[in-house]
Amino acid sequence: MEKIVIAIDGPAGAGKTTIAKELAKKLDIPYFSTGSMYRALALKCINNNLDPESEETANYIAENTKIALKYENGLQYVILDGVDVTNKLYTDKVSEGASKISVHPVVRQKLVKLQRETANSQSVIMDGRDIGSNVLPMANYKFYLDANVEIRAKRRFDELIKKGSNVTFEEVLADMKDRDYRDKNRKVSPLVVCEDAIVIDSSNLTIDEVINEFFKYIGGK
Ligand code: DC
Repeated sequence: MEKIVIAIDGPAGAGKTTIAKELAKKLDIPYFSTGSMYRALALKCINNNLDPESEETANYIAENTKIALKYENGLQYVILDGVDVTNKLYTDKVSEGASKISVHPVVRQKLVKLQRETANSQSVIMDGRDIGSNVLPMANYKFYLDANVEIRAKRRFDELIKKGSNVTFEEVLADMKDRDYRDKNRKVSPLVVCEDAIVIDSSNLTIDEVINEFFKYIGGK
């Protein structure tokens, strides 16, 4: 098979990672969720009591952190300073920290370099905020997966309630709106819809329906 590179960007909670994982299985190529790398740096900030918004933290983190990605048996793993932290990355505190640490250019430079190296040597599906616009502008396919903010917040709220949390929908919605604002308005590589991106709105679609939408384009070019 020829090398294929697929970029999926979009706001938090649109289903990018779920779709990337499913597509990767069907195409038998690895997927990398770049948000997990920003999340790993946020985890390091939390563990060391560092403020992810400060420039000093950003410089320290960029200079003193080893991040590696691994893909095995259909799943992606993130290794932070030699330790597998994959299952510690999906908490609300880490989400907020990731959105904050990711505004710093010095942090982005470090992670973007690693992301490009990862896609250099193999077929990949990569999801994030700036994959089509900045990390892999030569991707064969660029998708922008969107969904209405209330629907994204409702998906997240249902997940949290299932886990036993007692948050309110309004709190989850407010967090989602904050993250959207930060991701779309930061100075470096904000979330944008690229000119050549295929926009898919998952608001009223099931996972299978979204996958079908993707396959209308992949292979049909
Ligand atoms: O996709 P995610 O929710 O796991 O991403 C977590 C945060 O990381 C997100 O709020 C913004 C940041 N991020 C980024 O700035 N650039 C990327 N390519 C991926 C994520």
